[in-house]
Amino acid sequence: MKKIIEIKNLVKTYTQASEQIVVLDGVSFSADGGEFISLVGPSGCGKSTFLNIVGLLDSSYGGELKLFGSDIAFMSEDEKSSLRLKKIGFVFQFDSLLPEFSAIENVELPAMLIKKPSIKYSMDLFKKFSLEKLTTKNPREISGGEKQRIAVLRAMRNSPSLILADEPTGNLDHLNAVKVLSDLRKACDNGVCVITATHNENLAEEFSDSIYSFKDEKLVKVK
Ligand SMILES: Nc1ncnc2c1ncn2[C@@H]1O[C@H](COP(=O)(O)OP(=O)(O)OP(=O)(O)O)[C@@H](O)[C@H]1O
Ligand SMILES: [Mg+2]
Repeated sequence: MKKIIEIKNLVKTYTQASEQIVVLDGVSFSADGGEFISLVGPSGCGKSTFLNIVGLLDSSYGGELKLFGSDIAFMSEDEKSSLRLKKIGFVFQFDSLLPEFSAIENVELPAMLIKKPSIKYSMDLFKKFSLEKLTTKNPREISGGEKQRIAVLRAMRNSPSLILADEPTGNLDHLNAVKVLSDLRKACDNGVCVITATHNENLAEEFSDSIYSFKDEKLVKVK
């Protein structure tokens, strides 16, 4: 099976006030379809930095990154944008939905961006996750937990091979966190690789196939 992610010797430094901060120093990692992986570790250890690189949101790093078998170093910005839209779904902690649009319109947005709209497809996604009551609601009218579940549907909309979720449950109570992670797990059971960064180690333990943390700028397998 083709690897979803292959990383070799990844190095990431930030420059701040002419000072170099090394965040990742020789990280190697790989992931397959169907894997649910959690990144844990204290604030500032590099979880978001790592996810941003894998999600092609940050291209200033050293080392090798291959996604879906292709070396990212040889891709143009257009090719990277296209890959992001078609093959990678994102879920973030805050401001997950656009308030100008209804829930179902939010889920349709990624499909419209690749010119493959289908409200029926989005409706079926809502049904599959028993969220059909929310389709026409405005994000202002729905709870934080529901918003995150809809953000997960939006991340799934273009049938990605990889979903990156940076603290998707950071603002939620336990019950809603479990719902969001169960939705992500469902995507994973359909062959998607899911990587989430979280501070909730108990939930990471419950939902993940493997767990990694960052120590001394290196990635360490915890489970
Ligand atoms: N744009 C930036 N410029 C300079 N330093 C940065 C930048 N972004 C992150 N850093 C630094 O890189 C380190 C890793 O940050 P990162 O956001 O990846 O941590 P994190 O593990 O996601 O933390 P949290 O759990 O708080 O989200 C931190 O020391 C942070 O201050
Ligand atoms: Mg972070």
